[in-house]
Amino acid sequence: MSEATMPAMAVDLGGIKMGNPINTASGTYGQGWQFEGFYDVGLLGAITTKGCSAEPWEGNPQPRMTDVFGGMMNSVGLQNPGVRSFVEECGEYLAHLQERGCQVICQVAGHSVGEYVRAVELFEELAPWAAGLEINISCPNIAQGGCAMGSTPEGASEVIAAVRPRTKRPLLVKMAPERVVEVARALEAAGADALTVINSIPAMAIDVHTRRSKLSRPTGGLSGPVLHNIALRMVWEAHRAVSLPICGVGGITSGEDAAEFILAGATAVSVGSQNLFEPASAPRILDELVDWVASQGVRDVNELIGAVEC
Ligand SMILES: Cc1cc2nc3c(=O)[nH]c(=O)nc-3n(C[C@H](O)[C@H](O)[C@H](O)COP(=O)(O)O)c2cc1C
Repeated sequence: MSEATMPAMAVDLGGIKMGNPINTASGTYGQGWQFEGFYDVGLLGAITTKGCSAEPWEGNPQPRMTDVFGGMMNSVGLQNPGVRSFVEECGEYLAHLQERGCQVICQVAGHSVGEYVRAVELFEELAPWAAGLEINISCPNIAQGGCAMGSTPEGASEVIAAVRPRTKRPLLVKMAPERVVEVARALEAAGADALTVINSIPAMAIDVHTRRSKLSRPTGGLSGPVLHNIALRMVWEAHRAVSLPICGVGGITSGEDAAEFILAGATAVSVGSQNLFEPASAPRILDELVDWVASQGVRDVNELIGAVEC
C-alpha cells in the first residue's frame, strides 16, 4: 500500500496514544521480549504485561492449561514474581520498547483493595516508563479478588475508587464477562479511563476416563475463538452504556475479527490466545486490519469505531 492510500491508524485509548489499535492480552504475551525473535514488537500499538501483584504469587498447581473445542482453558492463577522483581527483570526492556513507540501497559493484580493499592504504589515508584496501568478485577482463577470483586458494580468501583488517587497515569480496567453494562457504568463513575472487555469466561472440562477435571482446579478460564462473539456482544453493550474507550478482547485470530470489535465500539483490540498458537499473529492481524480500513474508503480508523449499523 502506498503512503497516499495508507489510512491513519493511530488511536487514543484513554490517554494511551497508540500508533495502531493492536494490543496484546495480558498473560498471553509474556513480557514482550519473548516475541522479539518472531518480529519487531515495536510495530504493535501496545502490549499488556502479565498480571503482577505487590508480592510474588505462585499460581495454581499443574495441570493448568488444556485444549478445548474452539479454544483453550487455563487456570494459571496469576503466577508472578511481584512488582519489584518484575521491574528488575523486564524494566529495562519495557522502557526501551516504550521509546520504540509501542505503549507498555502494566497489569496490576490483587486479592484485596489494599493489595491493589500497594501494587499500584509500587508501579508508580518503580515503573515510571509505563504508559498506563490495567487493573485486573476479573481473573476467574483466584479464590479472592479477581472475578469476586469485578463481577458487581459495588466491588468494581470500590477497587477503582481506591487506586484512582494513587496514579495520574491512564487507568484501564479488565472486566469480567458479567453484568457488563452495570459494571462499566460504575467504573466510569469511579474514574477509570478505559475498559478492557473481556477476561476469559469461567468454564469446565472433564476427563471422562479419570473422572477428574482436566485442570488442577474444578474450573478455569475459557479463551480463544469460542469466546469471540460473546466478547463482541459485550463490547457493543459497554460502548452503548458509557463514553469510555474500550479495548476489545476475545478470540481474535484475524483482521476481520479485530474489525468486528472496532465496528462494535472498540477503540483498540488485544490479541490473546492466538499468540500461543501462532507467535507472529499480531503483526499479521495488524496488516489485515489496515487492508480492511483501506477497503472501507475512510482515511482514518477512528471513523469506523462503533460504526456498526444494526
Ligand atoms: C494462559 C493465559 C493466561 C492469562 N493470564 C491473564 C492475566 O494474567 N491477566 C488477565 O487479565 N487475563 C489473562 N488471560 C486472559 C486474556 O488476557 C484474555 O482476556 C482472554 O484469553 C480472552 O482473549 P483470547 O480469547 O483472545 O485469548 C490469560 C489467558 C490465557 C490463555
